[in-house]
Amino acid sequence: MRRFVILGHTQKADAPVPLDDPAGAGRWDVLTRSVASALLLSNGIRRDTEVLLVLLRSSPARTLIVKAAEVRNLNPDDRSIQGLLTKALTLKPVGQHPMESSPGIWAANWDLAHVLERCRKEGPVVLLHEMGLLLEQGPDVKRLADATFVLSDHEEFSSDQLALIRGRAGGIHSLGPLSLHTSSAIAVVHNLLDREGAPERR
Ligand SMILES: C[S@@+](CC[C@H](N)C(=O)[O-])C[C@H]1O[C@@H](n2cnc3c(N)ncnc32)[C@H](O)[C@@H]1O
Repeated sequence: MRRFVILGHTQKADAPVPLDDPAGAGRWDVLTRSVASALLLSNGIRRDTEVLLVLLRSSPARTLIVKAAEVRNLNPDDRSIQGLLTKALTLKPVGQHPMESSPGIWAANWDLAHVLERCRKEGPVVLLHEMGLLLEQGPDVKRLADATFVLSDHEEFSSDQLALIRGRAGGIHSLGPLSLHTSSAIAVVHNLLDREGAPERR
């Protein structure tokens, strides 16, 4: 299973995604594109991938979990993805136990530390950062078949977040010298893993 944890710094966790202005109201466009990039193929879905959106602006922090293996009606257009996320955002009440808003999509009051602890039990956790060690095709990538990749949205990781993630991550990796959009960074990771992957993943 591949996992992508994305830190959402500005998106509200308790209101619908504003369909008319997803970029202006908390940069939901960044998270929407990231979900599409993580889970969708040109003509299908990556059933072996999950995305966790950690909405840090909420108190307590809220995490939306999207599991491609179970999700239904996940279409590539932004509004359709935002509609599914809105259903999860407007669930009430949300607690520690994940609540399913539609097939394959859950909301839970998990903060970043809790998310990372859960992911760490499933495989290596990798912080993706421009200043990390370059991740190159080969054995290093092969080892990451079941990894969780942690990315930020349009904002830089704070020093507290970096310390928290570093304490749980097996490595800090860069994908190259330029700072990419979150969704592009996810596409690069998928490509690296696809090229090393088991035949059934192709
Ligand atoms: C748009 S960037 C974050 C903002 C940017 N760091 C800044 O200075 O404003 C989005 C995220 O994608 C990942 N990312 C982007 N480019 C990367 C690269 N070259 N190597 C590794 N991760 C990258 C990182 O997790 C980064 O936080």
